[in-house]
Amino acid sequence: MEYALYELTGRLSHTWLSGFIQTTPYVIPGLQIVHILCVAIVFTAATVTAGRVFGWVERDVEESRVARRFLTSIWKVLPILVLTGSLLVVGEPRRSLLNATFGLKMALLLFAIILTGVLQARVMHLPDGMRRREGRTATIMVSIAFLTLWCTILVAGRWIAYTPTA
Ligand code: HEM
Repeated sequence: MEYALYELTGRLSHTWLSGFIQTTPYVIPGLQIVHILCVAIVFTAATVTAGRVFGWVERDVEESRVARRFLTSIWKVLPILVLTGSLLVVGEPRRSLLNATFGLKMALLLFAIILTGVLQARVMHLPDGMRRREGRTATIMVSIAFLTLWCTILVAGRWIAYTPTA
């Protein structure tokens, strides 16, 4: 498995696209800037949505309206994150694909996407009474997990640079 991954990274780094990303000035910093701006949007959306569920912010605005305004922006920037992230991988395949922290980040991303869908369903689509009473503890638990996951992904993204590759 590790050998196959090593082979793949070798092949990827010799593709035309990888060569273009590696040798064209400003491509890597440009991708990093767009990636990090999208991270900022996801972080803001996750903090405000969870903060509203905890009752810390926007208390005078309906929870579902806050979610519609903020949480949904996660879906909008996710494709840009995936695209810029994938291009960064193609540019330096060994740095990420052979990096344990990168693997962890991708696994956590899958859970974060699922939890974002679950939280959206709870705060935007549950009947009003259920949203306010019976399902309250579950919604708070989901929000804690949701916020923790997005923050951990953010830290893991930065941590890739400090983790040695295999
Ligand atoms: C499929 C989706 C994604 C891919 C393929 C991807 C890939 C990458 C890659 C290759 C890097 C460069 C790491 C390095 O060389 O140091 C990076 C950096 C980073 N990523 Fe992602 N990423 C994705 C999604 C995300 C998401 C959803 C977040 C957070 C919400 C995130 C947060 C970060 C952060 C904070 C950095 C560090 C930026 C820097 O310090 O310049 N990434 N990502």
